[in-house]
Formats: sequence, structure tokens, C-alpha cells
Amino acid sequence: MSAYLDLSGKVAIVTGASRGIGEAIARGMSSSGATVVLASRKQEALDAVAEAIQGAGGQALAIACHTGQAAAIDALFSRVEQELGRVDVLVNNAATNPYFGPVVEATEAVFDKTFEVNVKGYFLMAQRAAKFMVAQRSGSIINIASIAGISPPLMQAIYAMTKAAVIMMTKAFAKEMGGAGVRCNAICPGLTETRFAKVLIDTPEILHAFVERTALGRHAQPSEIVGAALYLASDASSYTTGAVITVDGGYLA
Ligand SMILES: NC(=O)c1ccc[n+]([C@@H]2O[C@H](COP(=O)([O-])OP(=O)(O)OC[C@H]3O[C@@H](n4cnc5c(N)ncnc54)[C@H](OP(=O)(O)O)[C@@H]3O)[C@@H](O)[C@H]2O)c1
Repeated sequence: MSAYLDLSGKVAIVTGASRGIGEAIARGMSSSGATVVLASRKQEALDAVAEAIQGAGGQALAIACHTGQAAAIDALFSRVEQELGRVDVLVNNAATNPYFGPVVEATEAVFDKTFEVNVKGYFLMAQRAAKFMVAQRSGSIINIASIAGISPPLMQAIYAMTKAAVIMMTKAFAKEMGGAGVRCNAICPGLTETRFAKVLIDTPEILHAFVERTALGRHAQPSEIVGAALYLASDASSYTTGAVITVDGGYLA
């Protein structure tokens, strides 16, 4: 491991760490020396990831948390404060996309649910983490957005709107927190093989349309998103804030 990417002594909270991109990032940060706090709704799934990390010699704390709920977020940060005492990195990654269909037919309930988790959840997590980071005079907030937040895919308008909001949230936090030594950046993955994207990857027309537009001619594996997250979490990115990094195989090029 490059000393640049060393996360020893740092505490990193990763939401949506029970599978997919969040699990891959949590494992990668643990391999770089961070103590990782794994958060998502299901304790059992988190415990399995924590055990695997601990089995590989890492340190992990698994805390069930619905990131759309302020009380659950407050409970998470109380526990982190009691047990670990600091927060150096936050990876806002847990998101939902409950509706695939025409924008004019999307219900208010779908709108509320998607914004609750994808925008309000990221915002509340970032606010809480920023308080620790400002007191420490250092920290890195990493928001997992999406290429959908830059170029909206058909039938996913509300999801795309939430991801555009995440990109703006990233820039707003970066500008306000820079003076306190806190950085905030976004990663925009392209189509990545996870449960979240299964329906897209399993639909030949959708997969074909994506692959055809992608310079590398294929979709991603979750492990291929990890490098950007390690860069943004570590001192390698000490002069990077407010950035929106696409990891999309050249889809938006
Ligand atoms: N896969 C792609 O093609 C792709 C592309 C661009 C961006 N992204 C973004 O990448 C991130 C991760 O997606 P993924 O593809 O890795 O999805 P995934 O494999 O389905 O994982 C989603 C994770 O989020 C957790 N989660 C969902 N709702 C939650 C809630 N309300 N509170 C707390 N945790 C919650 C899930 O655990 P529980 O169900 O146990 O809560 C799970 O750990 C998302 O922000 C997504 O928008 C994905």
C-alpha cells in the first residue's frame, strides 16, 4: 500500500456497507488501515461483513441504522462517539431507487421516499460527521452520487434528481467547510454490478445501450469504485475538495 493512501488511525463511517459498492469501499478502507463503522438497516448482514473484516485482521463496528431517520442517525453518532471518539471519513453511500417508470406517473410517496434516503439521509449524516471533523480540524466527506445526477437516464427521473442534489450538497459543504480543514467530494459511478443495478444489467436492451456508450465497453464491478474512495479519504487528496469524480468507464466522456 502506498503511504499516500494510508488510513491508519482513522475512523471511517460507510453507509450501505452490507453489500455492493459500500461493502467494497469499507473493505478497501479497512485494508488501508482504517477502523470502519458499517451502517445499513439490517444488523445481520452488517455483522457478516464485520466478521469478514475482523477475520482479515481489520477493525469494524457494525451499527444498524436507517439513514432516512434522524433519530437513528443520532444514535449511530452517539455510539461512534462513545466507542471510537472521532470521525475522520464519512462515505455517504446508502441510497434507494424504488421506481422505474415515466416521470409523470411517479407517486408522491415514491418522491418522498427517494428524497428521504438519498438526500435528507446524506445531509443529516454529513452534518453530524462535520461537527466531529470541524472540532478535529480535519476530515473527508465522500458522497456517492451517480452519473444519473449529471445525465438523467430514462425512467429514473426522481433518482436522477436526488443525485443532482447530492452533487450540489457536495459543493456547498466543500465551500463552507474548507476553512475548517474539512473536505467534501462526490464520486459518480457508472453502471456497477450490484443488487441495486441487477434489473438494469439483466435487461439486455438497457445493458446494451449503456455498454455501447461506454468507452471501456463494459459495466463496472464494485471493487472498481474503491480506488477513488481511497484517494478521497486519504492525504493523497489533501488539495481536492468540491470535486465530482466520474468512475464510469468513459460513459460521460
Ligand atoms: N450499482 C450502480 O450501478 C450504481 C451506479 C451509480 C451510483 N450508484 C450508487 O451507489 C450506491 C450504492 O449502491 P449499490 O449499487 O452498491 O447498491 P446495493 O448493492 O443495493 O447496496 C445498497 C446498500 O444500501 C443499504 N441501504 C438501502 N437503503 C438504506 C436505508 N434507508 N438506510 C440505510 N441503509 C440502506 C443496503 O442495506 P440494507 O438493505 O440492509 O439497508 C445496502 O447496504 C448508491 O448511492 C447508488 O445510488 C450505484
